[in-house]
Amino acid sequence: MKSICLDYSNVDKYINNQELQRKIEDNKQLLETCMKSKATDSDSMGWINTYHSNDEDMLKKIEDKAAEIRENADVFILIGVGGSNQGARAVIKAMGDNKVDILYAGNNLSPAYLNNMMDKIKNKSVYVNVIAKNFATLEPGITFRVLRQYLEKTYGEQEAAKRIIATGSLNGSSLEKLGKMKGYTLLPFPLDVGGRFSVLTPVGLLPIAVSGVDIRQLLLGASEMEKSIHTASLNNNGVINYALIRNILLEKGYNIEILGIFEPLMEYFNKWWVQLFGESEGKIGKGIYPSSCSFSEDLHSLGQYIQDGQKILFETFINIEDMESSYPIPLENEDIDEFNYLNGKDFSFLNKSAYDATVKAHYEGGVPVLVLNVPKLTPYYMGQLFYFFEFGCYLSATILGVNPFNQPGVEAYKTNMFKTLKA
Ligand code: PA5
Repeated sequence: MKSICLDYSNVDKYINNQELQRKIEDNKQLLETCMKSKATDSDSMGWINTYHSNDEDMLKKIEDKAAEIRENADVFILIGVGGSNQGARAVIKAMGDNKVDILYAGNNLSPAYLNNMMDKIKNKSVYVNVIAKNFATLEPGITFRVLRQYLEKTYGEQEAAKRIIATGSLNGSSLEKLGKMKGYTLLPFPLDVGGRFSVLTPVGLLPIAVSGVDIRQLLLGASEMEKSIHTASLNNNGVINYALIRNILLEKGYNIEILGIFEPLMEYFNKWWVQLFGESEGKIGKGIYPSSCSFSEDLHSLGQYIQDGQKILFETFINIEDMESSYPIPLENEDIDEFNYLNGKDFSFLNKSAYDATVKAHYEGGVPVLVLNVPKLTPYYMGQLFYFFEFGCYLSATILGVNPFNQPGVEAYKTNMFKTLKA
């Protein structure tokens, strides 16, 4: 099977190969240590081994529950915020089927959003998956109260319990206690995996399976990426190159990285990536600001700044080589709209032309461009992408000198908010 592959030829004007080799040499010890890291090395490294691919009992439990939900539900509500929903949503939006309508809740505090959703689910068969590592976060916690009451009122306590799956830390958390008391299906949120690194655990796997995506292929892709990263040499390793090039660019004043896609189906993958890098690297006054664009649409908004604004940003494109999708341009005899020069062409060709033209224009306009070539948009390659970026983020943050696994900055607004809420 092919693999996703980093092309860094379009950073050559900004970084030469000697600089990259020197950076590898300077960080040799650190890189070797990271490459040998194991899940047992610390209490937040569980994600590094894609062990769930071998946990047959867990996979079966998830697949069986997902099959039951697909059979019985009109609507499946994923309650979670940050790392507890971003990964699953990225996959579901990119490749899930529409057999069950999947809604997202507990990721904001808007009454208008909640009213809208409650209206939408009236007279529908509803299942809920509440996902929270420690169940202290306000958004999912309080939204679950609303939905739990709704389900109990609609179906009665016993039937409601059958329709609720709680994914949380099984270490005596209040969600676990509630689940045991009420009789919910409980799934483990691994204690040694932080939210933004959790997509390949039961946190992401159940909702993804409910959307009809093959979670075994997702895990296979991730574990093959894990193997290939850990067996490649330091000097010929795409993920090392990605992490080091980011850091060299940052040292040269490129403070912003834009993840660019030409496939709108990947917009929520962008959001997952933004959270992964933003929460992992942006601390102690350091870090690249992660941003994202969905092209070609954003060529007509941020494209102007990227091409012509301050030279403080670089781009990483996700180039899906074969979308396996086509739409021929309809023929017209009279050329009134003046698009007849496209007769006989396909939208896939237009999109590819826009992509090639953008990479060239931005590169020539002073923007370093990295490209991650992805053979196809499948669960297998999605698994590779998740692992590539998780490992890349771990490496990049470590080289930068920050702890990728905490998020102390998130507490500041909470302290203010709780002062008001608990007054
Ligand atoms: O990546 C992270 O750790 C965070 O984004 C968390 O996922 C987010 O804050 C939600 O936390 P919890 O699952 O405990 O509600």
